[in-house]
Amino acid sequence: MPTDDQQVHRGLEGIAVAETRLSSIDGEAGELVIGGFPLDELAANATYEESVFLLWNDRLPTADELADFRTDLAARRAIDDEVREVLRRAAAEGKPAMDALRMGAAAANLGSDDGDPETDARRVVAAFPTIVATYWRYRQGEEPVAPREDLGHAANYLYMLTGEEPTDAAVRGLETYLNTVVDHGLNASTFTARVVVSTESDVVSAATAAVGTLKGPLHGGAPGPVLDMLTEVHERGDPEAYVRETLDAGERLMGFGHRVYRVRDPRASVLSSAAERFYEASGDDDFFETVQSFEDVAVDVLAEHKPDRSLETNVEFYTAALLHGVGVPRDLFTATFGVSRVGGWTAHCLEQLEDNRLVRPRARYVGDAGRTWTPAKER
Ligand code: COA
Repeated sequence: MPTDDQQVHRGLEGIAVAETRLSSIDGEAGELVIGGFPLDELAANATYEESVFLLWNDRLPTADELADFRTDLAARRAIDDEVREVLRRAAAEGKPAMDALRMGAAAANLGSDDGDPETDARRVVAAFPTIVATYWRYRQGEEPVAPREDLGHAANYLYMLTGEEPTDAAVRGLETYLNTVVDHGLNASTFTARVVVSTESDVVSAATAAVGTLKGPLHGGAPGPVLDMLTEVHERGDPEAYVRETLDAGERLMGFGHRVYRVRDPRASVLSSAAERFYEASGDDDFFETVQSFEDVAVDVLAEHKPDRSLETNVEFYTAALLHGVGVPRDLFTATFGVSRVGGWTAHCLEQLEDNRLVRPRARYVGDAGRTWTPAKER
């Protein structure tokens, strides 16, 4: 038996490795606090720029500071021709959006000669939407749309995807999403970012590594399949039959259950209200009615299916409904998660650097010892 200090904490579950003032999760109560604000307070009111300023500075900006911050980020949106070329190639080869985002992120400090952490943070936050939208335009066989400095972060992202100025309802819907998922404790990609800067590497490297971590289906990949499921149910009707067939086939229902939350994910509640507002305003609430009736049925059937385990709606369920509504293509859902979460990653990098300690856990050795060498031709 391993002694206490040899105990292996697989996946680091339940182990606190940092102190943070950025966000706090209460999984039993279903409460999320971001930068000191209850999620619903922040998500519905802030612009994305305000959320990022809050996380980086632990306070809201004054009106002047906000104007300066917006202007500075907007001026950093453009990407170099060489990066555009890489994105064009990624799109032509059919690489997923997250690969394109990783390639673009890695080049975010091209043409700059300082590694100041906050400047690098501004670079990646500003460039992420441009990278994703440029890749998407190429994948559609279209030319990229240059960013517009007069638009806010969320509005400009939608504008670069379509070339059309988005409606206020779409901007508010996307902004609510970006605020809602900007930070969420020490999830895998955020931890990755902190590990990278703990070696005194740089923030661009940290954000690039975090994109690679977010790409994995266990982290950021559920909303695409959720949308497929909702689209199918919307077309064929009878959500209950769909839910029962899925569970009877031994499959999991995407968009339900969570490692930490034992009640409805508070982000699902915020995104559900935002999606409802959006679909009502757009006059296209048919699809949203399917979404709501699917949730009601799914929660009931899951309770019957697993009475001893609370399986409630998670963030991905309403992410799919909201992003689809505001016009983000399905194949960009995970990359759009990255467009938001880079605000949290960079905030964690800056926080880590305030009181850095190299992250260096250890592994319990379970291999052989004392082997003797055999030359290759004798093996
Ligand atoms: N549908 C059906 N059954 C589910 C389920 C779901 N969405 N989520 C969990 N379960 C069941 C498991 O099959 C398991 O049953 P078992 O004990 O008979 O094997 C039990 O509930 C516990 O599952 P477990 O894998 O231990 O829970 P977890 O805390 O590790 O999983 C998730 C959390 C999110 C990975 C899991 O709920 C899931 O796969 N959900 C669907 C994918 C999804 O929506 N992901 C986005 C998360 S934000």
